[in-house]
Formats: sequence, structure tokens, C-alpha cells
Amino acid sequence: MKKVQFYVIADTHYFSKKLWVEGRSIEARSHTDQVVLKESPEINEAFFKLIENDTETDTVVLIGDLINLGEKLCHEEFTERLRQLQQKGKRVLVLTATHDYNGCGEDENGFVAAGYNENDTYHVPNTKRCELDEIYRPFGRDKAESEYDMSYSLNIDGYRFILLNDDGNGHTDCGLDDEGNKWLENEFIKAKENDEPVILFTHHPVITPYPVYENVAPTEMYGRHPVLKEMMMKHGVKIVFTGHTHVHTIRRITDGKSEVFDVGTTSTVSAYGKIRKVTLENGVADITTVDLPEKIDGIPGGSRQIAESCFGGYYRRLIDTAVKDYDAFIKLGHGLVPADKANKYRAVIKPALKAFSSINMSFAGKVGKKYSGLNKAEIKKHKGEKLIDVIFVILDHFFQGDAPYTPDTYEHKVIHGALLRGDRIMKTLGIKLSKYINGIDSLWELAEPLVHNTRTGCDREIKIRLTDEVTYEKN
Ligand SMILES: [Fe+2]
Ligand SMILES: [Fe+2]
Repeated sequence: MKKVQFYVIADTHYFSKKLWVEGRSIEARSHTDQVVLKESPEINEAFFKLIENDTETDTVVLIGDLINLGEKLCHEEFTERLRQLQQKGKRVLVLTATHDYNGCGEDENGFVAAGYNENDTYHVPNTKRCELDEIYRPFGRDKAESEYDMSYSLNIDGYRFILLNDDGNGHTDCGLDDEGNKWLENEFIKAKENDEPVILFTHHPVITPYPVYENVAPTEMYGRHPVLKEMMMKHGVKIVFTGHTHVHTIRRITDGKSEVFDVGTTSTVSAYGKIRKVTLENGVADITTVDLPEKIDGIPGGSRQIAESCFGGYYRRLIDTAVKDYDAFIKLGHGLVPADKANKYRAVIKPALKAFSSINMSFAGKVGKKYSGLNKAEIKKHKGEKLIDVIFVILDHFFQGDAPYTPDTYEHKVIHGALLRGDRIMKTLGIKLSKYINGIDSLWELAEPLVHNTRTGCDREIKIRLTDEVTYEKN
């Protein structure tokens, strides 16, 4: 079978430069988002350029949340760029998702298409869900051999690519209904008969990225994901590429006979934007990660500037500023920290943050010493390391995956010990965590996947055999 290479791009959240001007209004929005909006055109362009320059890879799959919040203008500009990719010889396959539409009734998803004046927001023309088929039909569905609603299936050089639309409005399950699942199963059966290994794509996660996610946000999973997983196992379909969570992870489940992988790709416009490059050859999918290039046209500080301005980088700057210059902190926190409350509690917040920032890792080590097994000498060695730095390293990995502290590290032992002690205290006080977080009984259970990679061991890359252990039998 021919070697096939393709890119997977998730959650581009493109926002037009024509819909905002510098001012308090766009700042307020940016400070409450975990993706960058203002620089989204430059960042996505950096990835598109990289793909254009890769002459060996002719296919690009975009798996939804293409634009910010259903703004018509954003779709116009975004599809224009996709057309240019096609003109450069790229095969562009698109799925839309919940951020790509909004409106009333069925389209009511809590989003409003808006622009940003200096101090205010204003309504801009929106896109209804029913308009998306026509807008994006030239990007994949026009070549589909089979379709169900906006899901579609096509042969890519001997492989069966199936893209499942799951753009629910957030109020109910998303994903295929019963009829849709019959269609999908039929596609699996036809693919097997034609010896086409199946590669699946959808927007929402099929396997939860972190255990807590599925418990607190069940409607943010792919709808009827247990049915899909069972069907994948039954028909030997190994891989589904997903987005939505902006969490770059590789998850695996097995029933003892077969296994399924959910390869999640972070948003291009997250603090550490990434895409996936995949090679299918000799029955193996070789899945890798491509980072946002260091240098980005139009962004003087490149990828470093993005990381420092978004999510963890921004929160860290906020805390450091509060300690050094409280008035600057109030300004910097616009949109996130209410100025009146920040002023009112100045005498509490500033010293509290100062005290928190000065806690060192040897002090933290003493908290859980009884449970961590650390000795005095080891604890003393970490006097110079700050707890806040460790917390922000963990936060930095929340979306980009590969949680940083393996079980042999001092940091892992400290957090483990401290949280086991916390679990003990809660037990003594009769506090049940599961009362607040469904299905989670311990603080350590909650935190462990964020401290070290408890999934497949590496979120950046994996090689998956596509063809073994297929349990499907004809008839
Ligand atoms: Fe998204
Ligand atoms: Fe999403």
C-alpha cells in the first residue's frame, strides 16, 4: 500500500483582524481565554506556511472550531486561505464544530458573534449551522463517497478516512445518532471488505484526556462515545484523532483483545500551539508533533511571546506584578480580576500572594514527609526551589501534555506526599471529594495525571499498528 502522509490541525479559532481594535474590550476578552485571539491569524499562517513548504505531505485534516464564534467574516477569510492551500496542491479535509456557528433555537450554543471597539463589543453577522455545509462542502465533502448529515467518508490512497461531525450545541450529547451509527458501522464493514485501514477523525474526545474531565463535563465528550469505542474495538479500528479540549495527549484503552487510541491535538493558538504529522506505511501509523515555529511573521517575540502572553504565562505575570506593583496588577488583570474587589482586598491579596510566592520546595517537602518517604537531607537540598515555579511548570504542561515530574523526581514525591496527607485530613474530617467531583475520591487521584504522564508515556509521538487483532468477522 502507498505511503500516505497527512497533517491534523485542531481548534484554529481564527479571528479576523478587522473585528477588533486595541483597547480594554479585546484585552478583557483575551485575559479570560486560554487561547490567543489577536494573534490567531499570524499563528495559523505560520502553520499553513509550514504545511505548504512540506512537499511530501499533500493532505491536511482540520477537525473543527475553525474560527472564534461563528462570525461570517472569519469564515470568509479562513476559507480563502484554505482555497490557497488547495491551489498549492493540498487536499484539505474539514470538519466544523460548535465554535463555527451560532444563532437561535437549535443553533443556540451560548456564543455571540461580536467585534471589539476600544471600550465595547458590537454584534457582527453570524453563521447558522445550516450554512456550514455549503461553506465547507468544497473542503472534503464534495469528494466524499458516502455522507451522513455532515459526517463523511472517503478513500485516501487506499486508506478509509472517516470524519464524524459532532458539533452539538452544548446542551445535549453531540455525535452520531442511532441512524448515524448504523451508517458508520456499514462504512467500517465496507472498508474491511476492501482492505482499507480506517482512520477516524472527530472534534470531541472519545477517551477522556484527564479522568476528571469526563466526570465534570460529560457533554463535552463525543456523544455516545462508549458505543463508538465498542464499535472501533469490534471492527479493529485503532485510531481516532480528536481536538476540542486543547489538550495534547495520546490515550489508550483496551478490552484485553483489541485496543483503541485517541490522539488529541492541542489548539494551534494555545500557549504552546502544535499540530500532528502522520505517516501511514507498512500497516503502521507513525504519529508525531510539529510545534509552532519559533519565528512567526508579524509577532516580534515569536512563539516565546505567545507562551508568555497566554494562560499560565499570563497568570504568572499577574502574580509577580501583584507582588511588585499592585496598581499595575489591577490594570493587567482587567477583565479577569474585578478592579473594585482587587482594590478593596489589597491589604489581603498582596501579602497573601507574596507569602505564597516565597514558599520553597523544602517547606513543601516537610508538609507530606510522613507519606512521601523523603529524608531530611533530600528535603534540605531543595531550599532554593520555589513551589510557585513547580506549579507553573505543571500548568505549562496542562494543555501541551507530557506532565513534567516522573515518580523518581523530588517534585513528584513532594506533591504525592502532600496530597496523600490532604486525603488523610479530609477522611478525618469526613469530607468526601466525590460529593463535589463526580467519581473522584482522592486529591492525588485528581492531580496525578497532571504531575506525570499516566497515559501512554508520551503525548508527542507514537507508532500504532493498524492491522493486527481485528476481531471483525464477515457476516
Ligand atoms: Fe476549541
Ligand atoms: Fe470545541
